Amino acid sequence: MKHRYFLLLIVLFLATGTSAQEWVISQEKGAKLSPFLFSDSTRQTGKELYNLNCKSCHGDPGKNNAVKLVPQPPDPASLQMQMNSDGALYSKVEEGRGPMPSFRNTLTVSDKWKIISYLRGTNDKYIQEVAKKVAFGTAFEKVEFHLYWNREQKSVQVSVSGIREMKRQPVSGAEFKLFVKRYFGNLPVDAAKASDVQGNVSFNFPPDLPGDSAGRVRLLVKPVDEAALGEVSMDTVMNIGVPSYRPPLNEPRALWNVVQKTPVWLLLVYLISVLTVWGFILYVLLLLRALYKSGVEKDPKI
Ligand code: HEC
Repeated sequence: MKHRYFLLLIVLFLATGTSAQEWVISQEKGAKLSPFLFSDSTRQTGKELYNLNCKSCHGDPGKNNAVKLVPQPPDPASLQMQMNSDGALYSKVEEGRGPMPSFRNTLTVSDKWKIISYLRGTNDKYIQEVAKKVAFGTAFEKVEFHLYWNREQKSVQVSVSGIREMKRQPVSGAEFKLFVKRYFGNLPVDAAKASDVQGNVSFNFPPDLPGDSAGRVRLLVKPVDEAALGEVSMDTVMNIGVPSYRPPLNEPRALWNVVQKTPVWLLLVYLISVLTVWGFILYVLLLLRALYKSGVEKDPKI
């Protein structure tokens, strides 16, 4: 009897533990701001995106018609939802939890902010705090990237600065991605990272990434949200990959090449086997001829 109460206690503890667990968002993520101002047009697109991606669970804002799930998806107009900072909303949509899916890869950065602009539209007390970096592609005449290799940390440091009226300023708080260029498309390295106050971003570089014969890799840095930040990128070569030997496509005696480039061993094996087969056929024919001849000699009437 005793242990039954004990079990009940455990079940209760688990149930309250999971449903009341706080959704902790780091300070850095919580402080993130939208790269653009919320407007009727962003709210309109946001509404369409919300209806497609979120309404099935969260219902219509202010109507309290969310689907009954555990934990309950909060109504977007509710205090629970609106208490979140913009950055916290963004991170929660990006990460998901329990029944709430992650939208990290299914929605672009600007789509996510547009949905948030729609969610904020239901809250008339909300005043948007806009990031200072609003659309740096348009805020600066020119954006420049400088790439450095940090040997100790095995990371690629990128410093991003913008030039405006002949003055250089760091581009802070914008998200960037690092890629390694390959024959077919670009290989992403590390996750998207936001630049700090000095406009610096640091990407961890895998120690085993193959480069060319001298270990060179071609790196590409791009802002995550090109729509909001403008199309700027930087393409540079660094000697930080693992040297690898890949035979060039036009190398002599490469298998995929024309006859005179076939590897010698293959050519020999082929020729010897073809000659052997034909030799046998010829030998059998000669034997048949000899047989016929000896028959004719014995009995000329045949
Ligand atoms: C499959 C159902 C489902 C879908 C689809 C869904 N959510 Fe959720 N959402 C949930 C559930 C359940 C929770 C509560 C999760 C928890 O607290 O662990 C939640 C929580 C949240 C929270 C956190 C609220 C808080 O407590 O701070 C936000 C923000 C949110 N959802 C936004 C969205 C947005 C925006 C979309 C669409 C892009 C979306 N959700 C799509 C089920 C869903």
